[in-house]
Amino acid sequence: MKSAQNQALRRPGRWLLGLCLAVLVQGLVGCAAQGPAGGPPGSDVFFDRGVNLGNALEAPDEGEWGLTVLESYVDAIADAGFETVRLPVKWSGHAGSAPPYSLDPDFLARVDEVVGWILDRGLNVVLDLHHYDEMSTTPAAEVDRWLAIWKQLAEHYQHAPEALAFELLNEPNSALGDPLWNTMVRQALATVRPTNPERWVVVGPTSWNATSALGGLALPEDRHLVITFHYYDPFDFTHQGAEWVSPSPPIGRSWTGTKLTPRAGWQDWSWDTDVGYDDQIGLTFEAGWAGFYLHSAQPVTGYQTLVLRTSRAVDLLVTCGPDDGGFAVRTEAGAEGQVALGDCGGTQDVPRIIIQDGTGQPQPAFVLQTLELRGPSGTLPLLVTEADAIGTAFDLVSDWAAANGNPPLLLGEFGAYSTADMGSRVRWTRAVREAAEVHGFGWAYWEFGAGFGVYDPNTSSWRNGLLDALLDKRTSH
Ligand code: GLC
Repeated sequence: MKSAQNQALRRPGRWLLGLCLAVLVQGLVGCAAQGPAGGPPGSDVFFDRGVNLGNALEAPDEGEWGLTVLESYVDAIADAGFETVRLPVKWSGHAGSAPPYSLDPDFLARVDEVVGWILDRGLNVVLDLHHYDEMSTTPAAEVDRWLAIWKQLAEHYQHAPEALAFELLNEPNSALGDPLWNTMVRQALATVRPTNPERWVVVGPTSWNATSALGGLALPEDRHLVITFHYYDPFDFTHQGAEWVSPSPPIGRSWTGTKLTPRAGWQDWSWDTDVGYDDQIGLTFEAGWAGFYLHSAQPVTGYQTLVLRTSRAVDLLVTCGPDDGGFAVRTEAGAEGQVALGDCGGTQDVPRIIIQDGTGQPQPAFVLQTLELRGPSGTLPLLVTEADAIGTAFDLVSDWAAANGNPPLLLGEFGAYSTADMGSRVRWTRAVREAAEVHGFGWAYWEFGAGFGVYDPNTSSWRNGLLDALLDKRTSH
């Protein structure tokens, strides 16, 4: 049966029929595959250990961005041990501009061919609607067209195996905010479900699928949703020199994982203060009343005390609550100081911590050796290593999932651009991939063979450091 199915899958357009027949031979009642596809046994992560076949079918025309998908690439992906291919496709560039917004049949046949190659090798495929650029500027005007595209795709792929998932829209952003996006997701499900009642549908939050935007995603009642998010932090590292980012972060930033950074969910809103993020945090108040300011997007609860330690004695004003002002503290060199949150304006929730110059004069540098909250919930360090920051970001994703019925989660994109040094890219890629696995998320690396490529199409070989970071293996081809 397997080989009959494989043969059918090789021919675009025939694999749907082939699969239906194969399933019928087994005595099953329909064409839809039963049970989970491609995930580790006992896990509810179906779309895992993936790579994005990016910069090919989501270019205005395939090949325009330097990559045309070859069947040999899919062989290489399967042979290496990946289980999933996320396939970004610019469907909006190949559909009519007026109703019924028909998809270009030649383009659809080409995507079928690639999808067939992927399924044929027993891999999962996440068919991702990518680069619908107008969705970022005039989304409301595009909704009908977007739904019409999904209606056609849903009909076309209705008999495809369960290993094929639909991803409704890559990285909704800018003008496409939560209220409209949440409505659109419901409309798209209403469009897709009549023909694909149990198809896995992948959906992510706004703000370019940022983890921090998950809170705005209103999950519809639907038992076949996979929730996706992307991770590119620190952005200045992963996107250094990226031509499509303006201003492009300077090239030369390495990633050791040991530099300190605010924990996920906390942002640096400091003013008149030089904050030297390194293996230690150096603070220089450059003007009187300057401040080191950490703001929490989601106020934290369950803590009673702020603990701080500085390398020399400093006069500070400490704020922990919503009101300005500040509680006067004089630290001692290297000694742990404790401030009750009630004294520095904290309430049940801690929305921010401000460590401010208490002298009204600029101050020479000192090292902030400790900054953490303590209480019945334990200890919450506000400054963590960059390696630990990944885990703290993923913890927030897990917390969100736990509060939302624990849907399967897919880290659908992560990667560092080729302008970063390879040692740093390898370290970062491994750290993110391992953190995803620890948290039980499926993952798909961005991307196969272009600027972030784990594979070099010019030499037809894997970049072994990156491959090893993803799959714990190296290959000779
Ligand atoms: C998003 C963009 C893609 C870009 C990638 C990394 O997927 O759509 O074009 O290459 O992020 O920045």
